[in-house]
Amino acid sequence: MKILLTGSKGQVGSALVPALAPLGELCAFDRQGLDLLDLNSIKTVIQREKPAVIVNAAAYTAVDRAERGKEPAFAVNVRAVNELALQAKSLDALLIHFSTDYVFNGEKHTPYIESDAPAPLSVYGHSKLKGERAIAASGCRHFIFRTSWVYGPSGRNFVHAILDAAKSKPELRVVNDQRGAPTSSGAIAGAVAQVLSSPDLSNKPGGIYHLSAAGETTWHGFATAILQEKGLKTPVIAIRSDEYPAAARRPKNSLLDNAKILESFDVALEGWWEGLRAVMRTMH
Ligand SMILES: NC(=O)c1ccc[n+]([C@@H]2O[C@H](COP(=O)([O-])OP(=O)(O)OC[C@H]3O[C@@H](n4cnc5c(N)ncnc54)[C@H](OP(=O)(O)O)[C@@H]3O)[C@@H](O)[C@H]2O)c1
Repeated sequence: MKILLTGSKGQVGSALVPALAPLGELCAFDRQGLDLLDLNSIKTVIQREKPAVIVNAAAYTAVDRAERGKEPAFAVNVRAVNELALQAKSLDALLIHFSTDYVFNGEKHTPYIESDAPAPLSVYGHSKLKGERAIAASGCRHFIFRTSWVYGPSGRNFVHAILDAAKSKPELRVVNDQRGAPTSSGAIAGAVAQVLSSPDLSNKPGGIYHLSAAGETTWHGFATAILQEKGLKTPVIAIRSDEYPAAARRPKNSLLDNAKILESFDVALEGWWEGLRAVMRTMH
């Protein structure tokens, strides 16, 4: 099985490289190798490589910066995704793509299921939703994994931000009114590899699947766990979202219900704290 991976240096992309390599021939492209802003390159590279599976781990993920103007987010998260989907369709290849809890407005009180109505609050959320819809409209065979609160051993993420802040500040103030499940890039990559290894993959229904760590917390709870795992005693003060000014609005409830992927592929991610502990063991 030939697999073409985009965004190979991102959090999820870099975890996918070792996870996908054992499954076949992996052609991994970072932004330098394949810039998704160049739609012609997408076509040329895919038609040259003729992969059986395209895994798109590239995305515009600067949630607050996206509020300054939708063009950069839409170029990568919609137009490039549309082109990837059209190319997948032309080769009869399977497209694997990632989306986000930010397609929802967070007003539901229980975890979101795949068929819940999206209503994004942010430009980023809108762009990811339009990307999902472009894939569905292309008619290519696809799996879209919506995940949440992604972190990993490297890259810009909440874990690093909290550890850095704890070095320089006497106390941290962290939002306590957004619920979600922090999900490690390694757990996502392992789940994708498990899905692709399913013996009866071709009989499985394509579409959207929720894929996040088990359990729930808040950003405040997550920050507290990060410091605890590191043995740091910096106090973490709980604040409301409106006390932490950010350009983009975020859902109050980011929880995703993972029952569908468990039933379809027997994939169940570990609890968020266990996942955090495993990642922090690999960090220096
Ligand atoms: N991060 C989260 O909390 C989160 C939550 C839910 C869902 N997701 C989704 O999960 C997926 C993976 O996210 P992630 O956390 O791994 O994001 P990430 O760490 O920001 O990685 C995204 C990668 O895409 C690359 N990229 C951006 N623009 C590109 C372009 N024009 N051409 C080629 N590559 C480009 C980036 O390269 P540069 O580094 O050079 O910009 C980066 O390597 C995305 O679909 C994201 O929407 C993420």
